[in-house]
Amino acid sequence: MSLIFVLNGPNLNRLGKRQPEIYGSTTLADIKVDCHSTAIELGHEIRFHQSNREYEIIDWVHEACEIGAGIVINPAAFTHTSVAILDALNAFDGPVIEVHISNVHKRESFRHHSYVSLRADGVIAGLGTQGYGLALRRIASMIAEKS
Ligand code: DQA
Repeated sequence: MSLIFVLNGPNLNRLGKRQPEIYGSTTLADIKVDCHSTAIELGHEIRFHQSNREYEIIDWVHEACEIGAGIVINPAAFTHTSVAILDALNAFDGPVIEVHISNVHKRESFRHHSYVSLRADGVIAGLGTQGYGLALRRIASMIAEKS
């Protein structure tokens, strides 16, 4: 059994209420429940976190460097701005999948660039909240391939 970190950036605590025409009606609590059941099915454990503060996300990546086998991350707006999160992820040894609920490439041009993609092993965008479960499945196969 491995430990996978599922990290969520700013404003994702407002999912369900925030721009439902873009992000849908699923809440972060719903996503957490889904991720937990997917992890159980895959035989892994998850740590699920959300923060509006960049440093907290960086601290969780550091924790993952010590005890985690994989990271699923939706950095939200920090995707497009944070060299610091990229630097933290660059020091992590396992698989990283970047998830976006919306299709960022269909939106404003400032969302087309991702610092995190420079490190991510895969990127899922525009598959709604299902992207999290799919990312966990991919991380699980990458962990299995590695061991
Ligand atoms: C997002 C896309 C980002 O551009 C945006 O800032 C978010 C959410 C997504 O999941 O689609 O907050 O990461």
